[in-house]
Amino acid sequence: MKKLIDLLTEELEAAFEKAGYEKQYARVTLSNRPDLCEYQCNGAMAAAKAYRKAPIMIANDVVAALEGSACVEKVEAVAPGFINITLDAAFVASFLKAMSAEEKLGVNAPEKQKTIIIDYGGANVAKPLHVGHLRSAVIGESVKRIAKYAGHDVIGDVHLGDWGYQMGLVITELKKRQPDLPYFDDSFEGEYPEESPFTIAELEEIYPTASAYAKEHEDYKEEALQATFLLQNGHRGYTAIWKHIMNVSVADLKKNYGNLNVEFDLWKGEADAQPYIPDMVEYLKKEGYAHVDQGALVVDVKEETDTKEIPPCMILKSDGAALYDTTDLATLIEREKLYKPDEVIYITDKRQELHFVQVFRCAKKTKIVREETELKFIGFGTMNGKDGKPFKTRDGGVMRLEHLIADINDEMYKKIAENRTVAEEEAKETSQKVALSAIKYGDLSNQAAKDYVFDVDRFTSFEGNTGPYILYTIVRIKSILNRYAETGKTVDACEIQKADSVSAKALMLEVAKFNQVIEGAYEELAPHKICAYIYDLSNAFNRFYHETKILSEENEEKKAGYIALLAITKRVLEACIDMLGFEAPERM
Ligand code: ARG
Repeated sequence: MKKLIDLLTEELEAAFEKAGYEKQYARVTLSNRPDLCEYQCNGAMAAAKAYRKAPIMIANDVVAALEGSACVEKVEAVAPGFINITLDAAFVASFLKAMSAEEKLGVNAPEKQKTIIIDYGGANVAKPLHVGHLRSAVIGESVKRIAKYAGHDVIGDVHLGDWGYQMGLVITELKKRQPDLPYFDDSFEGEYPEESPFTIAELEEIYPTASAYAKEHEDYKEEALQATFLLQNGHRGYTAIWKHIMNVSVADLKKNYGNLNVEFDLWKGEADAQPYIPDMVEYLKKEGYAHVDQGALVVDVKEETDTKEIPPCMILKSDGAALYDTTDLATLIEREKLYKPDEVIYITDKRQELHFVQVFRCAKKTKIVREETELKFIGFGTMNGKDGKPFKTRDGGVMRLEHLIADINDEMYKKIAENRTVAEEEAKETSQKVALSAIKYGDLSNQAAKDYVFDVDRFTSFEGNTGPYILYTIVRIKSILNRYAETGKTVDACEIQKADSVSAKALMLEVAKFNQVIEGAYEELAPHKICAYIYDLSNAFNRFYHETKILSEENEEKKAGYIALLAITKRVLEACIDMLGFEAPERM
């Protein structure tokens, strides 16, 4: 379905041509003076130069040519040459009717469906998830859902950090505590136990203990590094421990991400890329892409136009060890082989930007990915506390994601329980839904690259630009629709009618923007655009709600028109929050 603004532009194009001007001047924009009009066209100003005419004369000609147009109710030429447009209410109503007949509310399928891999989450196995991982999960999940809604084939990959030094630390600490386990007996040739030697709770304690101990004890650290090396070179016993760590940790991660409504299609990680490294290194050497620099194997990626120094991509350290660059390049080889993606989008802290610039350039230059494969990076800013410093626990430690979520849940439960009329169980469930909206909307309503302050009081408020406010609006609509249905009438049978008030018209115009907003949010990979939109939409709805007697309207047809407007508003809001990764409760 076409966008409202495009339909309008077409109408203006016809008018420009009819009046004897070229249609390239006919572009329509949203009004920046909503007190005067709804849309505007400033093309007469640009046309004035080409036609050596006063812009107001051109604007007048166009206005005259629009006479009889079914789209507009009022057009005015205003000095020095603006064309101010007020839409015809019946035209807007028919647009909304067409929207509501479509499953995706007017968002078109793409011309070419792309296969897109979204690399987000990025949790490090055996280490607890901390708030830094929150942003990647929340933004990535939303970008994934937006791309899906836009009609693409999207694959979300958690890309675990599962191949590093932390594994060596856990192995070393386990050996210290339970040296008799068969994993540490090099002469053991039997089957290793299926049961893990540790639970998640123990693993959560083992890693920080080992990590702290290694910082103080050089020989212990050496041992952990050696264990990492042995694991990475196929040590049988350590590989078996690694599998236990993976099983225990991944089950816990699935639970944690699940609580955030974050779901991955692939649970792959750095370890999956390792088998591709030897051939890749061979290839890079043979084709002359890589050279040795101070003992390390590197690929130059600087370009003439660079304004700052871009260091070479590191393939192997002088001791032959693979690095972060290596793993990401090998992962691209694997992805190319298994999924042939048209696009890969990475979501991490913006401090990793340089790494991705190097990897992207290297992958293109060495033809690891095809010329046309798009590689994109979304770098996000830091989540700060109210003191403007990175978010911490009360005693200054690293805040674990679980604890943060639990805190917000409690906060929300207190609020909801205050005027609770529902059962305990429902209040709990509702609080969780509302809490999730507070966390996610609080994050997503900011441009990803910006740092933001995680302000619990503001994010959990039912008023203002918050997740709970949006949910409150949806719940309000649901309740009216339910009450209408309780009178024995069918919501789906109601037909949208043309607006009969300023607030109804304003609401309809907001609803009508949906496909334009989603297209823009997809193109710019910008969930914050959806947040800004649903905030405007919710405000428009609440204004309408306060000014309109809906259920007590006596004219049945009019009432049905209102109900249909509410129903489509709800569908739009729900589609949007689903793209943001949260949902609305029945009541709150
Ligand atoms: N595990 C990494 C971290 O915690 C993030 C991984 C991001 N994805 C990637 N392909 N490099 O920083």
